[in-house]
Amino acid sequence: MRQLIIRGGQRLSGALEVEGAKNAALPILCATILTDAEVILRNVPHLQDVVTIVELLKALGKRVEQPERNVYRITAQGRLRAEVPAELVRRMRASFLVLGPLLARLGEARVSLPGGCVLGPRPVDLHLKGLAQIGAEIGLVQGGVEARGRLHGAEIYLDYPSVGATEQLLLAAAAIPERTVIRNPAFEPEVEDLAHFLEAMGARITWGREIEVHGAERLHGADYRIIPDRINAGTYMIGVALAGGRARIGCRPAHLEALLRKLRECGARIEEEENAISIESSGELQPLELETGPYPGFPTDLQPQMTALLSVARGTSIVRERVFPDRFAYVPQLVRMGAQIRVSDSTAIIKGVAHLEGAAVQATDIRAGAALVLAGLAAQAETVVLDEGHLARGYSDIARDLRALGTKIRWEDQD
Ligand code: UD1
Repeated sequence: MRQLIIRGGQRLSGALEVEGAKNAALPILCATILTDAEVILRNVPHLQDVVTIVELLKALGKRVEQPERNVYRITAQGRLRAEVPAELVRRMRASFLVLGPLLARLGEARVSLPGGCVLGPRPVDLHLKGLAQIGAEIGLVQGGVEARGRLHGAEIYLDYPSVGATEQLLLAAAAIPERTVIRNPAFEPEVEDLAHFLEAMGARITWGREIEVHGAERLHGADYRIIPDRINAGTYMIGVALAGGRARIGCRPAHLEALLRKLRECGARIEEEENAISIESSGELQPLELETGPYPGFPTDLQPQMTALLSVARGTSIVRERVFPDRFAYVPQLVRMGAQIRVSDSTAIIKGVAHLEGAAVQATDIRAGAALVLAGLAAQAETVVLDEGHLARGYSDIARDLRALGTKIRWEDQD
């Protein structure tokens, strides 16, 4: 267990580039299963979740090398295996995405049911329903899923625009030499990045009101650069708005429109360039209402950080969580710091306080941990965030990044 020690009452200033997007890198790494040719991936973030998926690829029979910190070279090494070690899927939900591509290539796959962040019940029914529509016969076996069959093109309608289910189906459809249409898909930038990667490997994909895929039995290798992580960029922008200060964060502003609208509404000044956002804030913030939703709605992965910000706004704010109904588990930790937040069903009512107090708090998942760190920047005195490794799943080093913005923050090992 490690802990982050944050000195409160600090303003942020400086410039920062974020690494590649975790949620794009994970499905793209899974997509390398679809070819035996060499794939070079650039701007891969240095994260625990990437280590997990690399272990998984190796267990399936891939050779994975890392010639540079953020560059991976993936090639084939012998025969691809159809079965994924249960432990790796339990550790991280995104591992389940190998089901579609393994099935497409081998005609069979066995994957156990996923674990990962504890955000309430997170079923995979949409993944399985979609795969069944393109020819998979799905059976449930000993805590896992067994899929078989020769896949074919089809028109699939998703009952909800699930990010994972859309990616699962894209991954399978890219290897089917027929036309597959995904109706009501997720349009998150990370899903689009996966689609671009599959195009780089030879699939034809049309991205409109629905996603149309013309796959190929043999996909080729590719050299591809992953998009910057909008959630990490957004986290640091919320930090600047909350603590006050001025910073320039390298990222794609177009991916963050929902956040930028809300930060402007709070009173932050924001300038967008092609590949960076400058933000300036006095730290005096207006309250607001917000609701999370599928892209281009407000991202659920920035909800905890935004709730931390609103806990010191000048009035009462309302945050409605529409993607993961249980995503307020971190609120008692913010309340320990003096926040006044009441949660009922999937709605938080946040009465802004003049300031938060430093306290010892615990990260309950990746973004909850980030929210507590940001709250600590604006709190009086010192905040200690205990972390069992959640933060390293999503931020290569949140302390290093925040130090680049001039703050006093450090890791300590805890026995
Ligand atoms: C991905 C992201 C996660 C982000 C989320 C929403 C990755 C690795 N993770 O998660 O960081 O918070 O998108 O933007 O990319 N659902 C079902 N049945 C299914 C699939 C999903 O009911 O088969 C429900 C989930 O329980 C949840 C909602 O749909 O309530 C959204 O889930 P989904 O969009 O699939 O998120 P993930 O892909 O798990």
